Amino acid sequence: MQKVTTSAHAKVILIGEHAVVYGQPAIALPLKTIQTHVTLQPSSHGQIIHSQLFDGELQQINDRLKGTETLIHTLLTRLATPQQPFTLTITSDIPVERGMGSSAATALAITKAFYAAFQQPISDADLLTTAAISEQVIHGNPSGLDAATDNAQVPLWFVKNQPLRPIALNLQGYLIIADTGIQGQTKEAVSAVRQLRMQHPQTTQAALAKLGTLTKQAATVLKQGNLKQLGTIMNQAQLILKQLTVSSPQLDQLVTVAQRAGAYGSKLTGGGRGGCMLALTDTLTHANDIAHQLRQNGAQKTWIVPLNLNN
Ligand code: PMV
Repeated sequence: MQKVTTSAHAKVILIGEHAVVYGQPAIALPLKTIQTHVTLQPSSHGQIIHSQLFDGELQQINDRLKGTETLIHTLLTRLATPQQPFTLTITSDIPVERGMGSSAATALAITKAFYAAFQQPISDADLLTTAAISEQVIHGNPSGLDAATDNAQVPLWFVKNQPLRPIALNLQGYLIIADTGIQGQTKEAVSAVRQLRMQHPQTTQAALAKLGTLTKQAATVLKQGNLKQLGTIMNQAQLILKQLTVSSPQLDQLVTVAQRAGAYGSKLTGGGRGGCMLALTDTLTHANDIAHQLRQNGAQKTWIVPLNLNN
């Protein structure tokens, strides 16, 4: 075993969350500058984790990191022995449980670290299925979108169980990402949509199909570079997500603040019921204005991302 450092980056879902669980497409963007780093090194005894969420022996790991524990056991069984001593240090700029792909980035970086430490190659496809081991423990039945985008260099068109497709993004604009400061509730939100689909099959199916249609329209608009139209589509998606009960008062409040501050569109991103929202605008000056308004009105943190992500 040798000492290695690996990384993976954050993501946001531009449009299509929740509907993607039911086979509709989603568009997700890699955020290459917001990263998680993992350092794995040999140790003479113990299996030690240092991270924001937990510091100590792997076997004492807390519930929030149960997925990581399962993943590490799988990796050690594959690559070495379950008792292999090591020290694993995780540092991250990606906020935890905010819909920015923190858990998937951690799973990817850990998987890459173990393979690199034991000097074994791993294909992209195997990397994603391995990272899914911890995502399944954390999220229940993830679509795989998080890990795929955390591992991607370009924006993705994602349909569950289909090959990933890069998507053209021909936009001169900016996304503002704002954190409500409240943990997202992806698992609960996904299960609420599942319940809704059982209780009100027709309206829920129609809402999910409409999200799929909006995602297809967004893809066309992205190619054409029509920022205003993309904003309108985002606003429509937010209304449907709200109808699916996955927004929250704080998300609704930030969406309204962004719209009043002149954003072309805004919506929650990811699982919802907390976590982050997105707003769209044309210039960096406007993006700074909107970000400022969002922070003044409850956002804990904001990020500004230029949309020419294909470069
Ligand atoms: O909250 P996040 O960023 O992990 O995104 C969840 C996206 C969902 O569509 C709600 C669920 C999924 O597995 O795709």
